[in-house]
Amino acid sequence: MQAASARDGVKAASVTVVDHPLVQHKLTLMRDKARSTKGFRQLLNEIGTLLAYEVTRDLPLEPVEIETPLVTMQGVQIAGKKLVLAPILRAGIGFLDGMLSLLPSARVAHVGLYRDPDSLEAVEYYFKAPSDLADRTVLILDPMLATANSAIAAVDRLKERGARDLRFVCLLAAPEGLAKFQGAHPDVPVWTASIDSHLNDHGYIVPGLGDAGDRMYGTR
Ligand code: PRP
Ligand code: URA
Repeated sequence: MQAASARDGVKAASVTVVDHPLVQHKLTLMRDKARSTKGFRQLLNEIGTLLAYEVTRDLPLEPVEIETPLVTMQGVQIAGKKLVLAPILRAGIGFLDGMLSLLPSARVAHVGLYRDPDSLEAVEYYFKAPSDLADRTVLILDPMLATANSAIAAVDRLKERGARDLRFVCLLAAPEGLAKFQGAHPDVPVWTASIDSHLNDHGYIVPGLGDAGDRMYGTR
């Protein structure tokens, strides 16, 4: 899909730009370099909750019979097994609590990857996931989709372990990374709060928000 049409704020092909005013307001607060570590972390958590609402919008429902205090009725429940939330360490952890507040029974897979600062290749240092990934919807969480090397490596790994139904959730995506990700994994839809302008020579998203992990944990 064209990045331009995604930037217009509508669902197109497999990229959804979440243009909810609360998300956009909070994202602007996060981009501000004067935002404190505490504020940055809290906003990422809050946006995580809002993105969880959007990314689960089309989950299939199944009928379930229940008894109200008055009668028996047919209600609905989310079909199938509990979701898996798969944050890419470290920054993906920033979405986790916010998402778990809406999806409290979700399982959690941890995907430990860092981006080599010179090659920009993703290097894996940890992986732990539920054994039945094939039966569950997996939401991969990472605030930043820059070159997409980390996102592609995470999806490769989760697919290798059996996952078939995956969704990628981020805060910012670079057009270059988005195109590369869609080329590598055209079956994995993406939700993002923004498609930014471009990557700079160091692989940072512009205008972006800087290094998400460092801003979240106060490192560097
Ligand atoms: C950041 C970010 C993504 C990755 C995106 O992680 O959280 O995982 O970079 O870049 P890419 O699309 O070019 O791969 P980083 O490697 O800095 O690790 P951290 O979260 O531990 O700080
Ligand atoms: N990782 C980040 O944290 N920020 C970027 O802009 C690119 C990769």
